[in-house]
Amino acid sequence: MNTNVEIDLVDEILKLKKQKNAVILAHYYQMGEIQDIADFIGDSLQLAQAAQKTNADIILFAGVHFMAETAKILNPDKKVIIPDMNAGCSLADSCPVDKFSEFIQQHPDAVVISYINCTAEVKALSDIICTSSNAVKIVESIPKYKPIIFAPDKNLGRYIIKKTGRDMILWNGVCEVHEKFSLQKILQLKTQHPDALLIAHPECEEDVLNYADFIGSTSALLNYVKTSDAQKFIVATETGILHQMQKYCPDKTFIPAPPNNTCACNECPYMKLNTLEKIYTALKEEQPEIIMSNELIEKSKKSLLRMLELSK
Ligand code: 13P
Ligand code: SF4
Repeated sequence: MNTNVEIDLVDEILKLKKQKNAVILAHYYQMGEIQDIADFIGDSLQLAQAAQKTNADIILFAGVHFMAETAKILNPDKKVIIPDMNAGCSLADSCPVDKFSEFIQQHPDAVVISYINCTAEVKALSDIICTSSNAVKIVESIPKYKPIIFAPDKNLGRYIIKKTGRDMILWNGVCEVHEKFSLQKILQLKTQHPDALLIAHPECEEDVLNYADFIGSTSALLNYVKTSDAQKFIVATETGILHQMQKYCPDKTFIPAPPNNTCACNECPYMKLNTLEKIYTALKEEQPEIIMSNELIEKSKKSLLRMLELSK
């Protein structure tokens, strides 16, 4: 940050938030220090619901672009800002709208269910949106005789097929963080910690999910560790969630599941672009701002509202 005087960032952020009637919504994958200043922390569904309810004039979204875009679709009259415009998502990137449009045209009878991790343009082509916490319910809401296209996450799609018994046409997308967990290293960890349970996000690859003691969205994983009698967990999702797990369960042990090489690949590089400094600057300057045409907002809103209606 380009300032000569040392300032207390947390203090300044809290002041700006009050002054501007702004709310900070943060995903569980944010750095702990960001989660600690947020007004609301949640998974993708909870954050969309919080965005739908807020009375604030400004929404600062500490997450990635598709999440801030979702907040804007639900609040066209509010200013939605994001700390770093480059905070994208490999899943959203894996599903370009022109290719997806061609794919849909090949299956004209199919109902299109898209995971919320996609662009507004893809949402506009979808019949209904889902998140990892309501995907089973959303898929089961579609009449059995209807074919379903599920995009963009093939791992989540495959998991939902297993859970519901519905045959779905899957788009071939993956999350670059969740696809990198190494089953071999997880099993080695299990031998060192035989009392540890493996808990995993459904974006993980099938081989990891097959060994998991519990599978769920970030909020479901958090609830599970809070209520489980077990004392030790190997956590196969982005490491940001460990902050809340440790806060709620200070006496339990959480071990991040290892990726398949020596990189820090169990950290989402997009989520981790956000910093307290960038949040401070974004609140002060009220940018970078999410700008969308009214036409795109209207077109992408339908599938999103349908999900929110079904998730009440
Ligand atoms: P949830 O927030 O639904 O658990 O999804 C995790 C994720 O990958 C967000 O990008
Ligand atoms: Fe996208 Fe994966 Fe990062 Fe979530 S963790 S924002 S799905 S790249």
